Amino acid sequence: MAINLDNVEPIDPTAAEYASLMSDLQGNILKAHGRDHTAHVFIRFGPDVAAAASWIGHFAETHITSAKRQHEESLLYREADIAGTLFGNLYLTARGYQALGLRSLPNDPKFRAGMKASGRALHDPDPKLWEECYRDDIHAMILLADDIEALILRETRRLRHEIEHNRAGTVLGVEFGRVLRNKNGYPIEHFGYVDSISQPLFFKTKSDSATVSASSPQEWNPYGPLSLVLVQDPNGETRDSYGSYLVFRKLEQDVRGFELATRQLARAIGMTERESDHAGALVIGRFPDGHPITTTKEQPVDNEVSPNDYLFNDFNYARDDGTKCPFHAHIRKVNPRGDSISPARRRYGPLRELEAERRHRIVRRGIPYGRREIEPKDKPRLEELPTNGVGLLFMCFQSDIQEQYEFLQARCANDEQFPVAKTGVDPLIGQGGNGQSQLWPKGWGEPTTTPFNFMGYVHLLGGEYFFAPSISFLKKLSQSAGRQGRPSPYR
Ligand code: HEM
Repeated sequence: MAINLDNVEPIDPTAAEYASLMSDLQGNILKAHGRDHTAHVFIRFGPDVAAAASWIGHFAETHITSAKRQHEESLLYREADIAGTLFGNLYLTARGYQALGLRSLPNDPKFRAGMKASGRALHDPDPKLWEECYRDDIHAMILLADDIEALILRETRRLRHEIEHNRAGTVLGVEFGRVLRNKNGYPIEHFGYVDSISQPLFFKTKSDSATVSASSPQEWNPYGPLSLVLVQDPNGETRDSYGSYLVFRKLEQDVRGFELATRQLARAIGMTERESDHAGALVIGRFPDGHPITTTKEQPVDNEVSPNDYLFNDFNYARDDGTKCPFHAHIRKVNPRGDSISPARRRYGPLRELEAERRHRIVRRGIPYGRREIEPKDKPRLEELPTNGVGLLFMCFQSDIQEQYEFLQARCANDEQFPVAKTGVDPLIGQGGNGQSQLWPKGWGEPTTTPFNFMGYVHLLGGEYFFAPSISFLKKLSQSAGRQGRPSPYR
């Protein structure tokens, strides 16, 4: 029987009905790979395209981690503290499919057109101003991940040599990601806020259900149907061959600028500079430790609750008319948790069901990049904070780029009238707009507000739209190269 991707119940990844899906799907889509170091290798195929196809097949045989293997390794890690093996993924762009001479492409129109074609709609900077690696056509991206940085560096060098020596392609550039942690060991982004708390979840496993409230009804259900991220791979070998669209954006963070603006905002709303954590929480929607500002007036001192606890995610904004967590706060813009369907606030046409709003969710798999002279946990002074050279390698998976990533960026974050008139842009990632100041509550739950224009501390340096194909398709590529009379040099 065909798998029902629209089933909203979480799945058992070990159940027989998902066995062939899990073996043919690349890892990191349904669940994060969880390694601390990554390399993102950007490739253009050629001059020898048959060698490129052959190399991809070889890479799929030797390096790609399936969803099944990832799940088995994560169980081993949890139960016996045995670290997983080097994690590998390979993603192709539409230009990459064309360069390989493949006629059957995944059919998302945004994927086929590429990220640059959406520049105007997203208010992205001109690609001429992007970093060199991203200006011309990229054909593929390899993702390597491991907890041992030296292993990533060595394998990246080896792969570059293998690809270029066989004239399969040119490595256009490599980005290295590294998980940053706060003093309690939880992953943060460069502005210092715990990240990756709220994600769509798919598995009915111990690690996922720990983050979900045991009591019901819940205020927020984090589970999502597989159709949120998976689409049939048109080139897959089996009926259960699936893939997912990946948005990659290199987002530079001006950490000093953000910190200064946060302190100025604190003053503007009548707080001391030392209360800038509160101002920052109005920007993000969460305090640095992950507590949502809609449910908590202040971040508990020396709080020991893990941000993976369901308390951090089992909330919505039904009892908050923007006086606790402003409508423009980052997490409220990109996941309104019902705001956009509330009759008082609805913005888009007829009242929609909550499930329709939830269809815009994305699965985030980003990782910070860049070295800091003084790590966030060592409390750097203002002048020691970086203004460039650090940021987020933003990655998100979805089944429909227009309705998911692009919807969140263009129609939520950038739209000054979303979810209500005069909201202003998302102060963290908003682009474009008319420079309208956002209105900031002067105290928690206070209806009085102060206008303050907060934006411009995150800059796009480049990016692209990819597809994560099924493993059976990638393996098959080497056979098709072989049929063209070219013995693979990799066997
Ligand atoms: C440098 C850029 C960015 C930074 C520093 C950043 C930071 C954060 C932080 C700290 C959180 C709270 C943690 C959590 O709820 O999991 C968050 C949540 C989130 N972010 Fe971002 N983010 C960035 C870019 C983006 C972009 C480009 C998008 C998509 C357009 C996005 C979408 C989301 C979503 C969907 C959530 C979860 C909201 C929820 O479910 O409540 N972020 N981000």
